[in-house]
Amino acid sequence: MKLTHRKLKLAGAGALMAFALAGCAPQPPAPPAGTPGETSTDNNAVGTAMPEMAMPNKAIAVIHPTKGNKTQGTVTFTQENDGLHIVGDITGLTPGKHGFHVHENGDCSADDGSSAGGHFNPEEMQHGAEDVTMRHVGDFGNITADASGKAHIDKVDTMAKLDGKDSIVGRALIVHGKADDLKSQPSGDAGPRVACGVVGVAK
Ligand code: CU
Ligand code: ZN
Repeated sequence: MKLTHRKLKLAGAGALMAFALAGCAPQPPAPPAGTPGETSTDNNAVGTAMPEMAMPNKAIAVIHPTKGNKTQGTVTFTQENDGLHIVGDITGLTPGKHGFHVHENGDCSADDGSSAGGHFNPEEMQHGAEDVTMRHVGDFGNITADASGKAHIDKVDTMAKLDGKDSIVGRALIVHGKADDLKSQPSGDAGPRVACGVVGVAK
């Protein structure tokens, strides 16, 4: 009996169900362990961190000034076929270019934004410009403020994602006081962090 039961289990769920329906004593379902080869590749593609959570299509970062600054704004991230569309408006800047990055930690609690850590760098690359492949995933280059201190952002990024290991969701979006020179290591010599906001799921 024992041997027969085992064989039926190995034959698959269908056979197991038939066996149960045939009047066998109540039996908990076979544990899923032992069949790792049957995991679908679709599930693997979602990423390992949150396998049960549907990937968001849109994210948002509301950025607030760090201590002594007045930079603020809202930036949205929408995953489309050609990449991640980044659209936003930021105010309270000095005119000119400002480094614009996703940093590793979704933590803007420090007065100077240092709690956000370094640039988000899951691929372990060097710092670089937004239009090269050797760069931090969080390297979004610069934004440019006009004479009134306003910057409008509308660009597409092909490295950052909203799912998987290159996902920026839950990380921090930072605007800097100076321009990112796009080459200095490890962060483009962009000066102080003047605004910080966590990237979260949007409607
Ligand atoms: Cu930065
Ligand atoms: Zn960087």
